[in-house]
Amino acid sequence: MAILKILQYPDEKLHTVAIPVAQVTDKIRALIDDMAETMYAAPGIGLAATQVDVHERVIVIDTSEARDELLVLINPEIIASSGISDFEEGCLSVPGIYGKVQRAELVTVKALNAQGEPFVLDADGLLAVCIQHEMDHLAGKVFVEYWSRLKQARTLARLKKKLRSTM
Ligand code: NI
Repeated sequence: MAILKILQYPDEKLHTVAIPVAQVTDKIRALIDDMAETMYAAPGIGLAATQVDVHERVIVIDTSEARDELLVLINPEIIASSGISDFEEGCLSVPGIYGKVQRAELVTVKALNAQGEPFVLDADGLLAVCIQHEMDHLAGKVFVEYWSRLKQARTLARLKKKLRSTM
């Protein structure tokens, strides 16, 4: 296992659209192990392959308190959604920046697990938000890009300032 480098916004590679996983192989399982280790070490509650510069449809999530319920979603598809929620979100690719995004409150997602077996999951609350946030990464979208141009410009300015002060 290895801790992978997480792309930092506004890296253009975060806008890459991931392709579906053709077959869940040992190589994909090794990627999942590395992504999980990277997410837990960060620490974060979700990570999409896009964020570690691998452009295939793989997500790892763990929203449990004990950090012992790893959820793997390969080729995820939202097959039903309802309601509206606006959680305050953050992202390992946009450190120190938090803000609200309007999303569905409940989602039903269909995906493959690490063994390549299909499953369907009903999610609500933080898990539903996290699934939608990570699926956006696979589509090349970062959560701050839901915000107004002005708020995005301010976010970029804050990130640049932070970068300078840590160099
Ligand atoms: Ni993110």
